[in-house]
Amino acid sequence: MYAIIGTWKMSLEGVWKGREMLKNCAGAGDTVTQAVMQAEDQPEFHSVGYGGLPDREGRVTLDAGFMDGDSLRVGGVISVEHIKNPILAARLLCGRETNCLLSGRGAEEFALRKGLPLCDMRTQDSMERWRQEVNGLGANFSPYEGHDTVCVLALDHGGHMAAGVSTSGLFMKEIGRVGDSPLAGCGFFCDSRYGAAAATGLGEDIMRGCLSYEAVSLMRRGASPQDACREALKGLVDRKLSLKESKGSISLIALSPRGEFGASTTLPLFPFSFGSGDHPARLYRTGWDQPVQAAREEDLKGLD
Ligand code: GLY
Repeated sequence: MYAIIGTWKMSLEGVWKGREMLKNCAGAGDTVTQAVMQAEDQPEFHSVGYGGLPDREGRVTLDAGFMDGDSLRVGGVISVEHIKNPILAARLLCGRETNCLLSGRGAEEFALRKGLPLCDMRTQDSMERWRQEVNGLGANFSPYEGHDTVCVLALDHGGHMAAGVSTSGLFMKEIGRVGDSPLAGCGFFCDSRYGAAAATGLGEDIMRGCLSYEAVSLMRRGASPQDACREALKGLVDRKLSLKESKGSISLIALSPRGEFGASTTLPLFPFSFGSGDHPARLYRTGWDQPVQAAREEDLKGLD
């Protein structure tokens, strides 16, 4: 069995290609990396990679994380400004015993030493968005616009699993702000014995529930990926509601070592893509208190 799942509509092409790679016996790690890069490279996806959402100073600073489910090794980069594909740097850092999570200049110097492509990640569009916001002419973008991180989980023919995530984080974020995405257990977690999970949404909330670890932990105790996503999310939402807070903007995906998948969200509509040995890659959707169902592109207009 092989399977791959990714958050948002923006993951569809990467998941489609990733499924082809897995079918041709590629490893889970290579597949996840390629699928995340696919989204990072597209400037029209405003919250990931090239052309991502700028911070308060108008810089596009990116976070990425990667986890190998066999070794439980993790790698990640935080606030990188010139690494064309942050997920590639995270993947390379994942092989290290120490210094596997690097931020800012250290991460950029690592990428340079490894010969990774560097470029200016700002686009005219991302700069225009920032200029409008600082001049008070913005379209009232909230820091969290309803979608952010591309997360990809894969299972290969050999039973190996991997997880990768990449994001620019919040629009107009404070300099130095770190979200959930580069943090193992929060933005992603992967153990080939039990499954993988990843989160998208407001990092400050996701961190409070260590949501990705919580979902994998539920799978370790026998939950299906769907039940694990639902229970992990419900636990945090119930707690937030008991604290008189809103339920927030959080979505979770999960994949089991048998190729079953799950997804859960607090949003009215959360699209994601999935493909496996049994199922061609396609879009699915779920919503708060709604079941997972197949989706068509035209149902998801205006969403990345
Ligand atoms: N989930 C991405 C972030 O909050 O930065």
